[in-house]
Amino acid sequence: MIDVLLGLQWGDEGKGKIVDFLAAKYDVIARFQGGPNAGHTLYVNGNKIVLHTIPSGVFHQHCLNLIGNGVVIDPVTLNKEIEAIVPLQSDLLSRLFVSQRAHLIVPTHRALDAASESSKGHEKIGSTLKGIGPAYMDKTGRNGLRVGDILSKNFHRKYEALKAKHLEILARYEHVINWEELEAPFFDAIEKMRSLQIVNAEYWLEDQLKKGKNILAEGAQGSMLDIDFGTYPYVTSSNTVAGGVCSGLGVSPSKVRDVIGITKAYCTRVGSGPFPTELVGEEGDALRKAGAEFGATTGRPRRCGWIDLVALKYAVMLSGVTKLIITKADVMDGFNPIKAAVAYNIEGKVTKELPYDLCDVDIAPVYKEFPGWDNPIGLCKTFDELPEVFKSYCTYVAQYLNTNIAYISNGTGRDQLLKVMSEMPTPTR
Ligand code: GDP
Ligand code: IMO
Ligand code: MG
Repeated sequence: MIDVLLGLQWGDEGKGKIVDFLAAKYDVIARFQGGPNAGHTLYVNGNKIVLHTIPSGVFHQHCLNLIGNGVVIDPVTLNKEIEAIVPLQSDLLSRLFVSQRAHLIVPTHRALDAASESSKGHEKIGSTLKGIGPAYMDKTGRNGLRVGDILSKNFHRKYEALKAKHLEILARYEHVINWEELEAPFFDAIEKMRSLQIVNAEYWLEDQLKKGKNILAEGAQGSMLDIDFGTYPYVTSSNTVAGGVCSGLGVSPSKVRDVIGITKAYCTRVGSGPFPTELVGEEGDALRKAGAEFGATTGRPRRCGWIDLVALKYAVMLSGVTKLIITKADVMDGFNPIKAAVAYNIEGKVTKELPYDLCDVDIAPVYKEFPGWDNPIGLCKTFDELPEVFKSYCTYVAQYLNTNIAYISNGTGRDQLLKVMSEMPTPTR
């Protein structure tokens, strides 16, 4: 069966850490969407690792890792990641598989991303500038290059044709980055990609399922960045909700079992766009400092605010979340009171539904307050040891979202997890 793990907010919920922990009980970890805009942080033996394209199961030797068709791959980033991981996991390449249907990010995609963003001025998306939007545009526009193409003798011809299209568009922009210098590293990386295990991934996965293997689909970004359901246009270009798993891996919905949704105990967003519970000024700065909220991919400071249960409930509904994980509980130490948005007051009308438009309306969150606590959550070894007020906060969140909490995460380490659901694996500290 396939379980899904995805972010319920605007990304960076701690997916990498949780996948790295849960991978112990799965045979295959499969990325189904996104690309090098993702930055998934893991701590392995005290070393910090940030993964962008490679699934977060690579540090478990029994785990196979698949980059699915729904992912867009920058060969240069992928190659850099491989080179960084091989000294730590010498058998990495024997456990890494790439769908032949995954699309490629080419140097001119990055140039188009940068040019489009700079032309938008104040309305820019705040893209990671990794070429994600243009690569998905070429996919849906039926112009894209796929991993399988690199094995064809026509690859260079197809590449030149796509580049020519891009150059026509780039000619209309004022600010164009120097993409020519990216071409040589791109072709070097393509050469290296040819020796990877490029597979017909939908058959490969079907075979794994027939063998009774357990698969975890690893999401990137978060539900509020979904191309259809996020805070459009301030979103990414893929389906980040559970629906993206079927199209991003080539598996049927009937194979999906659990949907594990992750939220921080508060909320962050990096890049532009609406963020109703954002704290600007000292409180926001304090959260950023306590949570070390700086982007894993771009290093940008993340915007910080209170947990938004209205947006979370929407995300839980969209993906049918069966298990909830709350991360970064330790970061809330010292904040008093702690707030949770339980409704939106939109120009005088109170609602618990996420509105169609969050950009051009005035949203005042309606907050419920919880008292703070004294004993540090990071030191707790079991759920029972948590401060009573934090436990009531968890109960409230679970009831509001009408779902069950599987774990509370209280630190960056793989095993800094407090088990709440008895059937889940037990962390060993
Ligand atoms: P992802 O994109 O969802 O994988 O998340 P990121 O790796 O971009 O950002 C999450 C950050 O929070 C990383 O620096 C993690 O090491 C860190 N982190 C994850 N869980 C916890 C936690 O429970 N407590 C603390 N303090 N940090 C955490
Ligand atoms: P992980 O997987 C947080 C944001 C960008 C920008 C918008 C569009 O680490 O959670 P894009 O590069 O896709 O064109 O950017 O989406 N964004 C993320 N924010 N975490 C991510 O990934 C993100 N990937 C993209 O900041 O606002
Ligand atoms: Mg991240």
